[in-house]
Amino acid sequence: MIYRSLLTIVAVITLVMTVNAQDYHSYANPSGVRVRHVDLDWDVLFDQKVLKGSATLTVDRTSPTEPLILDTRELKIEKVETSTDGTRFEAGTFKLGVSDKILGAPLTVTLPTRATRVRIHYSTSPGASGLQWLDAAQTAGKKDPFLFTQSEAIHARSWIPLQDSPAVRVTYTARVRTPRNLLAVMSAENLSGTARDGDYSFRMRQPIPSYLIALAVGDLRFRPLTRRTGVYAEPSVIAKAARELNDTEKMVVATERLYGPYRWGRYDILVLPPSFPYGGMENPRLTFATPTILAGDKSLVSLIAHELAHSWSGNLVTNATWRDFWLNEGFTTYLERRILEAVYGRPREEMEAALGLRDLNEEIASLDDRDEILHLDLKGRDPDDGSTDIPYEKGALFLRHLEETFGRARFDRFLKTYFNHFAFQSITTDQFVAYLRQNLLNENPALAANVPIEEWINQPGIPAGAPKPTSPAFGRVEEQAKNWLSRKISPKQIPAAKWTTQEWLHFLRYVQDAFESKAANTPTPGSRPPTPALMAELDSAFHLTRSGNSEIAFQWLLMSIRNRYEPANARVEEFLMTIGRRKFIRPLYQELAKTPEGKERACEIYRRARPTYHPIAVASIDADLKCPAGN
Ligand code: BES
Ligand code: ZN
Repeated sequence: MIYRSLLTIVAVITLVMTVNAQDYHSYANPSGVRVRHVDLDWDVLFDQKVLKGSATLTVDRTSPTEPLILDTRELKIEKVETSTDGTRFEAGTFKLGVSDKILGAPLTVTLPTRATRVRIHYSTSPGASGLQWLDAAQTAGKKDPFLFTQSEAIHARSWIPLQDSPAVRVTYTARVRTPRNLLAVMSAENLSGTARDGDYSFRMRQPIPSYLIALAVGDLRFRPLTRRTGVYAEPSVIAKAARELNDTEKMVVATERLYGPYRWGRYDILVLPPSFPYGGMENPRLTFATPTILAGDKSLVSLIAHELAHSWSGNLVTNATWRDFWLNEGFTTYLERRILEAVYGRPREEMEAALGLRDLNEEIASLDDRDEILHLDLKGRDPDDGSTDIPYEKGALFLRHLEETFGRARFDRFLKTYFNHFAFQSITTDQFVAYLRQNLLNENPALAANVPIEEWINQPGIPAGAPKPTSPAFGRVEEQAKNWLSRKISPKQIPAAKWTTQEWLHFLRYVQDAFESKAANTPTPGSRPPTPALMAELDSAFHLTRSGNSEIAFQWLLMSIRNRYEPANARVEEFLMTIGRRKFIRPLYQELAKTPEGKERACEIYRRARPTYHPIAVASIDADLKCPAGN
């Protein structure tokens, strides 16, 4: 009897979880018809900026009557065929619904009794949100065009008709025909060997969510780093990329030690042209990365630690809906810092965590309460809007709180079992919390009482007992900054030659706070020269306007705009014209747009740069700037 009612309770809980897991960013109906495998076949038509071919979907059906509903965006559907024996295909019927601005259009395919495969013949549109077609001029080599995809969050549907929900996992194969001299790479095993002949085959044997399907085509070279790691990049970038990224194997080893075996075979990195809109994207077996991490001194490789960490948090255990995005990014940010600590030592971890906390506090100061919640409500919104510092930094801080409360050894064991338990599954926040209670909290209620789980996950802001990561190295940087700001020392006397990139970033942010009188214990503005003069002092001592380190340059240029330091104007323009990473360019445009003259300049630069930016960056900056037509 007790057993029966227990079963009922479990059944009800499971049902509630499934209902909760409803992914409102997909039209798909996986509970009735679920795609299990996808076979892709394309011609890459650079002159038309179109992928043309077919997607053949193999489905599992629990409902014999339900049609197959797929997500699409701006796809041209030529014809649909269905098959009952898996090999012979017959003409099928389909209907393309009306298109929603965020979700695209549902493609409904009628399934004959016992049909298990559906082939869709289609082509993409030149403006597909998940594709960027680069002219030769936008590449490093300037000779050949380039194509790359970016599917997360819901852009896979703009180049493949599929159930575009992270709760649906598929295996896939692909055959890709390209111009003969170009190489195609995917987030999969390459079956075509080393021949460069314009005809490439791929296979991904582990089930992955659609947002991890990825393709790039260009004049690419490969450099092995170790037996299982390597780098792809354009010929003129490959040597620098290989040098910069040669700690990759150490990172893989460190992560395996902490969280169990790397389960994807190879780990390669593709360094893209500068218009790649993100820092990195964790496509399985093949991380996509911005060239702006190639600083020359490995100082920005935390990005690789981050994308690599996703091989556990995200790719192995995946957020079931975009509401659960923090399960991907918060875990990954926490793992990223553990990897950095293992490879580069505790001080590096402390600096990264302190910079992260600062970002988080700044973000919280400007966000609506409802957007400060880990288990975010994104109904009616583009899931890309949920990509703030909340899932990343608040998520990481929550895990750090658990680590500090239960002890590192215990928490590491918990995470390792968590990754194993949910391997190759997509889970919701509720499922994580249930697992956390069962496997960590319940065994020590006294300790658990110190971590307000409900508050962490469902309330805005940061809970009172949260960890406050600090860095002794940053304390020393602040001393130097104060001494300079109070005119006790000249910039030349700042021991900056020994500073890491992270110390530089902290210095610049601290100085900016002082300019705005936000920093504690700094002399009042009245006792100092005006900020453009102070900027000039720093610049002549450290040549910041010319910095080749993208993070430092970004921070400096942002300050330059804010403090009206005009000698940096030309560099601001050059930066905006050559880099497409949204995290950098968006804030620079926003900062410019705060004054009328700045807004005019922003629109003038943007008019010229816009054609070189990725659709994702364009969408954000269009919305921010609202430049007058013709500008
Ligand atoms: N998965 C994200 C990138 C992403 C998030 C793409 C949401 C589309 C929607 C990736 O792992 C990431 O977080 N990249 C960061 C770098 C990281 C070091 C914080 C980025 O691109 O800035
Ligand atoms: Zn990430």
